[in-house]
Amino acid sequence: MTHARPAILFVDHEQDTLQRLRQLLQGEAWECHFVSSAAEAMKYLQKHRVDMVVSDTQTADMDGHQLFAEIHKLYPGIVRIYLSSYANQDNVIKALAEGYCQQIIPKPWIDQELKEILRSAIRQSHQQKKHSLAFQALINSIPLLPALPESYSNVRACIVGDEVNIEKMADYISQDVAISSILLHWANSALFGQRFQVDTIKKAIIVLGTDIVENLILSESVNRTIAAKLPEIKGFDFGQFKKHSMATAVLSRLLIKSLHPTDFVHHDRAFVAGLLHDLGKLAAASFFPMQFETAIEFAKNRKLPLTEAEMATYGTQHAELGGFLAEWWALPPFIVNAICWHHQPHLTSIDQDVVAAAHVANLLSYQFHYGSNGDTCLRGIADNYREKFYLSEEANEILRAKTDQTISALAQ
Ligand SMILES: [Fe+2]
Ligand SMILES: [Fe+2]
Repeated sequence: MTHARPAILFVDHEQDTLQRLRQLLQGEAWECHFVSSAAEAMKYLQKHRVDMVVSDTQTADMDGHQLFAEIHKLYPGIVRIYLSSYANQDNVIKALAEGYCQQIIPKPWIDQELKEILRSAIRQSHQQKKHSLAFQALINSIPLLPALPESYSNVRACIVGDEVNIEKMADYISQDVAISSILLHWANSALFGQRFQVDTIKKAIIVLGTDIVENLILSESVNRTIAAKLPEIKGFDFGQFKKHSMATAVLSRLLIKSLHPTDFVHHDRAFVAGLLHDLGKLAAASFFPMQFETAIEFAKNRKLPLTEAEMATYGTQHAELGGFLAEWWALPPFIVNAICWHHQPHLTSIDQDVVAAAHVANLLSYQFHYGSNGDTCLRGIADNYREKFYLSEEANEILRAKTDQTISALAQ
């Protein structure tokens, strides 16, 4: 199957600018087209497939803001980027705030930087095309997606092939007091069953394993960067969200042990899947807080599961959104899969046990009152999953006690 080359339309009233762009991008594997007015741009869009429009804030015949508003309305799947000089800053801020523009390339630009921004936007555009039009429109109403937190990439850099440089990883982690303390807490928790005190980061890495270490760091970094700027959202409590994620991680690991008692890869994956399963809620809360709040309210008033209220409010739901973000960050496929399907585990044919564990852990976590964060109407656990994980009243009580013990130790 051949893939069409990414197509970019450039709009600028200065012929000089268009000429420089033409020269700069001639060696790239992109189909670039250049026009100087909004009218020409709209005419071109009617007849050609375009993935991205890069426009000056002022075209020959129309304000760039107006042009992007029009494109956003008619072609919600197209990524929109401003080429902007400092003088047009107000226009840019307005367009960003209203979701008509997703990224800005400053004028004059640095060649490498411009190519990097275009590359990243093309990757996002390609990825979002796999989703529904409603989803594309939603993604295209927010700024381009954030980069993977640096701390996660730095820790991953300590792993080359199957070799882990534990000294280097421990040195790096030790520089961050909050992350160090989180790792030590988990390593000493009952969940990982240590009989001796784990008192150094190096020992914590050995006890937890690198999969868990890197994903605890990822979740903490995301919490810091995305969630630190969260506006107030009625019905969504960030503290509860964190507790819910931790409890789901604990439960997911405990559950999968009943299926694979000695398979540590499964144990670790189930923990990570539980920890990150609701990443999309953070994304929704941070990218479009008002719609997210409306969905929570809708779910509450109509006594619906949050996912159904989200579909009714903005045409997608947090599992799809979280999976998209995880894929954008190139997280391992089992994480993407678990995030995407944690509400509908029967729809995936890969990593089924991990996804099923995260699914049941999520429901148990609510049942045990770990964080409501938006979901007020909860379905019970289906019989086939009760049987799969040997859930009985007695088993539930054991799971509840173990979870309480771990979470309360972590909260201290
Ligand atoms: Fe969820
Ligand atoms: Fe959840």
